[in-house]
Amino acid sequence: MRPMSSLLKLGVNIDHVATIREARYRGRGFGEPDPVAAAQLCEAAGAHGITAHLREDRRHIQDRDVWRLREVVQTRLNLEMANAPEIIEIALKLKPEIVCLVPERRLEVTTEGGLDVVAAEKSLTATRQKMNDAGIEVSLFIAPDEKQIAAAARTGAQFIELHTGTFAEHFDDEKKRAVELKRLVGGAQQAHSLGLKVNAGHGLNYENLTTLFQVPHLVELNIGHSIVSRAVFVGMETAVREMLAVMKNYRA
Ligand code: PXP
Repeated sequence: MRPMSSLLKLGVNIDHVATIREARYRGRGFGEPDPVAAAQLCEAAGAHGITAHLREDRRHIQDRDVWRLREVVQTRLNLEMANAPEIIEIALKLKPEIVCLVPERRLEVTTEGGLDVVAAEKSLTATRQKMNDAGIEVSLFIAPDEKQIAAAARTGAQFIELHTGTFAEHFDDEKKRAVELKRLVGGAQQAHSLGLKVNAGHGLNYENLTTLFQVPHLVELNIGHSIVSRAVFVGMETAVREMLAVMKNYRA
């Protein structure tokens, strides 16, 4: 029987557009390129969502960006954020459709680079509750680690986002790539069996994506750097369309 086809969604992370702007206009309150204009082009090209990370240090995306994004994004706004009181307050007012909680400080990070949900289960559960009460879904950015996935399910989060950074990093090393792919497959299966929806992201590009398609149950990919890099040469809309064309081949 032919495997069932399911639409894999693309969330475009536009932080890197803001990184270019901040390289020249840091602290000025204006400047180009505008990440909000980029988001609109992504949506016009068929992206299913826009992802932006309002960091505590405001290294790329600024507060004004997320408020303008909230006004113009027609699809789904995914706010990446630390589990920090200042940012939680902003998120509860902003009301993105979903937040993805990510580590920003060394102590919040597991050995594999994702959020240490085991260590912060109580406070992540409290934040998850606050967000859900405000009608905002919650995703946790974690490594494909059995204990972290089990803890993520206990927090009551709706989604996990599997950290694909190690897979991407070792893509050219067949052995290491196979090991990481196996962990991602196992992680997705475990999460799915626990009732979590599974996203993935970090370091994904036009080349490594097809190999990642061995991972089952994927709902959405969050991709930033490779799309923004490609956009320098072909424009944002074409870069997004090319990524969507690759993603069409995913079979859940
Ligand atoms: N998902 C999360 C949680 C991230 O922090 C990032 C990086 O900002 C991405 C996805 C996108 O990674 P990349 O820019 O390497 O595509």
